[in-house]
Amino acid sequence: MFNKDIGIDLGTANTLIYVKNKGVVLNEPSVVAIDSTTNEVLAVGNEAKEMLGRTPANISAIKPMCDGAIADYAVAEAMLRYFISKAYPKNPFTPKPRIVICVPSGITPVEKRAVIEAATNAGAREKHIYVIEEPMAAALGADLKIYEPTGNMVVDIGGGTSEVAVISLGGIVSSRSVRTGGDQFDRNIIDFVRSEYKIEIGEVTAEEIKKNVGCAYYDMNTEVKEITVKGRDLITGLPKTLTINSRQVQHAIFDSIDIIVDNIKRTVEDTPPELAAVIMEIGIYLTGGGALLEGLDALISKRTGMPVHIANNPLECVINGVGKIIDDVDVSNKLTPSDKKTLA
Ligand SMILES: Nc1ncnc2c1ncn2[C@@H]1O[C@H](COP(=O)(O)OP(=O)(O)OP(=O)(O)O)[C@@H](O)[C@H]1O
Ligand SMILES: [Mg+2]
Repeated sequence: MFNKDIGIDLGTANTLIYVKNKGVVLNEPSVVAIDSTTNEVLAVGNEAKEMLGRTPANISAIKPMCDGAIADYAVAEAMLRYFISKAYPKNPFTPKPRIVICVPSGITPVEKRAVIEAATNAGAREKHIYVIEEPMAAALGADLKIYEPTGNMVVDIGGGTSEVAVISLGGIVSSRSVRTGGDQFDRNIIDFVRSEYKIEIGEVTAEEIKKNVGCAYYDMNTEVKEITVKGRDLITGLPKTLTINSRQVQHAIFDSIDIIVDNIKRTVEDTPPELAAVIMEIGIYLTGGGALLEGLDALISKRTGMPVHIANNPLECVINGVGKIIDDVDVSNKLTPSDKKTLA
């Protein structure tokens, strides 16, 4: 019955698409390059990300998603349309697909409606969009036993949001979502370099620094790494290189990480005691690209006193969870179709 179904993880940093019976067929950055004089879309995804920070005056590379929600509606819709047509090529006989799409649990009703509307306009079959919350999909994709009467705690740290949820018997028992994630770490690094070195670096460089020498926790065994990157001297306006090490990056992103850890602790506090006791034992599962930040698991474990596990393939947990829902014949019973009336 669900032959023409696709799943979408419309992330702040990356968009992934799952097609039933095929698996994940698309995984590209959520970036669009636009000709600012004609508003024409020049490139989407990988090709557009290459242009970030190096576009001439008439071209802008835009990230239409910000903090887990749509920031630029027209561009987000154009990006979705392009990705859907790439993942699910149309011919005169293919019906429009049904779409399962993920949204952060902390999204507002207005923001959620914008996602549904964009997906409808981008090619979904009318009244056949199913919305599921990101932490639920992340937990499914991390192979947690969410339908059992045990406690599962998942922390999904994406580009724009960090979501913490305790799931039991197929439902979210307690959750928190903050609009802080990997992109905020990049902005922290940009600010740090500007104030310490008086050098401006772009977001692509900041992300490179984070991935290569980023670190959330130090102990005696942690190796201090360093990286040399290029930026622009704020005083002379000329290109300049700088070397930055992992201790400096840890210092730069500390406050943002603290917000995430604080939300994990508060979510445990909001959880009924019996369930909290189970979670203390089983531990926390980290998903999303932020899970790959070195030492983040150790830091969370130290601050919460709980075991912390990094899920397999954290960047694809959400889409794999969506895939499981699509492949499940009972999917319609587990999800509520979006009501067209709410789209007015
Ligand atoms: N090795 C790494 N170390 C640190 N951060 C990483 C690493 N790899 C990816 N990231 C970061 O993970 C983030 C992207 O993760 P992910 O794809 O899960 O986010 P998203 O789903 O697009 O965002 P959201 O769920 O918040 O809308 C980016 O900020 C990226 O820089
Ligand atoms: Mg995500």
